[in-house]
Amino acid sequence: MTIQWFPGHMAKARRQIEERLKVIDVVVELVDARVPASSRNPMIDEIVGAKPHLLLLNKADLADPRATAAWIDWFAARGVSALPIDAQSGKGVERIAARCRELARPVLERRAQKGMAVRAVRVMILGIPNVGKSTLINRLAGRAAARVGDRPAVTKAQQWVRVGRELELLDTPGILWPKFDDPEVGLKLAATGAIKDEILPLYDVALFAVGYLMAHYPERLRERYKLADWPIDPGAMLERIGRARGLLVSGGVIDVDKAAEVFLRDLRAGRLGPLTFDWPPEEAEERNDSP
Ligand code: G4P
Repeated sequence: MTIQWFPGHMAKARRQIEERLKVIDVVVELVDARVPASSRNPMIDEIVGAKPHLLLLNKADLADPRATAAWIDWFAARGVSALPIDAQSGKGVERIAARCRELARPVLERRAQKGMAVRAVRVMILGIPNVGKSTLINRLAGRAAARVGDRPAVTKAQQWVRVGRELELLDTPGILWPKFDDPEVGLKLAATGAIKDEILPLYDVALFAVGYLMAHYPERLRERYKLADWPIDPGAMLERIGRARGLLVSGGVIDVDKAAEVFLRDLRAGRLGPLTFDWPPEEAEERNDSP
């Protein structure tokens, strides 16, 4: 799902999240492991406040494992608990409950000291559209998920599902808005399919992504499109891909728009191998990424 965000929508989404946060012990934030920085809402820390917070780098199956490991270390060094997962296959998902319990322990201990009843850890999933929130909820809840009914301070539509013995998960995720004032962030989100193709010109997105691969993953392009020689620039690379796929319009001219589409489809489906567009700042500098 992609939503066109307007200031009114953003304010409403924020209000809804803040309302639900009142009954939550741990916030689980999902980002796309291929773009862990670009797929984060920059206001997340402000919105979540002091609540314990677990960051999940989802779609780790599509991301460069070296980058994912570097991000986990980077977040850990800043006191942020982060885990790589693949919600589609379920890889890594089994570690979420234990991590949430660990993060909620101080809150639960305080409750116990006040003589309040022992209860499950209450969790809400948050993230921008398309990072895999529904996939994760379905996976965590499983088919035989027990609906545990409405809770006070939560709208009627809110349901809780039990995950294991000690976790309760809000079955509606909090949807944050993506922020792409920075053109490069927009291009990265579009390249990974996080924002709709109508928002940015497909050819520009493909040009950016193919340029990034030429700089950082040249061997993937060489292998996938069986390139004998190396095109001079991203535009020429897209033409070459078009030729390799026989995408011609009349007169033998290469259909570069179609080539852009084919390339992006390959990229998003992981057919160019696992790759990452955002690296931790220090590594990005070493790799000569901009900015
Ligand atoms: P959202 O609720 O945050 O908006 O995201 P949603 O779960 O709808 O997932 C968005 C897309 O990402 C879906 O693909 C979903 O299958 C895919 N996805 C979610 N988690 C993972 C993961 O860990 N790895 C991979 N490779 N893909 C993941 P789709 O093409 O929109 O739908 P479908 O083809 O799966 O039906």
